[in-house]
Amino acid sequence: MSGTNVSLILFFCFALGLPLLAMQDNKFEKASVHSCTGDCYAEWQQETGGVVALAAAQAEEKASASPAELGEAAYGGCIACHGSGGEGGVGPALAGQSEQAVYDKLVQYKNGETRGKQSALMWGQAAMLSDEEMKNIAVFVETLPTP
Ligand code: HEC
Repeated sequence: MSGTNVSLILFFCFALGLPLLAMQDNKFEKASVHSCTGDCYAEWQQETGGVVALAAAQAEEKASASPAELGEAAYGGCIACHGSGGEGGVGPALAGQSEQAVYDKLVQYKNGETRGKQSALMWGQAAMLSDEEMKNIAVFVETLPTP
């Protein structure tokens, strides 16, 4: 076996071994989640309060978020066509429109109404939104500065 082969083998052992070592470092994320039992689980529960407390904390965070913040989160699915600042792209610019205008238009799309030539693109989008989400998005869009 030539020297190159040996060093190649050594290199691969090293390359494979490093991630494995790194995985063991994270005490809660062992190779399998299920291996975090006993002391490991008790420790995790003590540090985080457990699954129930985590869920409660998440719910609380959501409840304390403002409509604009919730709207911003829901707007994530719109960025591809309307731009991160609502400046428009595939779809028309939304920045500069009033909360009421944005909400009304979304309701129209949700009802399957035709507004422009490409309304079909919006029907599916609006169908996925709840009334609450449309209101929050409208609040958020109104906060966007006119480009
Ligand atoms: C696949 C691209 C695409 C995505 C994703 C998309 N839109 Fe649209 N949107 C359009 C197009 C195209 C129009 C113009 C439709 C028409 O001709 O009536 C439009 C129109 C609109 C209008 C009316 C604008 C106006 O002034 O006439 C609003 C409001 C709107 N979209 C909001 C949203 C929101 C909110 C989301 C995310 C939940 C979203 N859109 C996601 C493409 C998209």
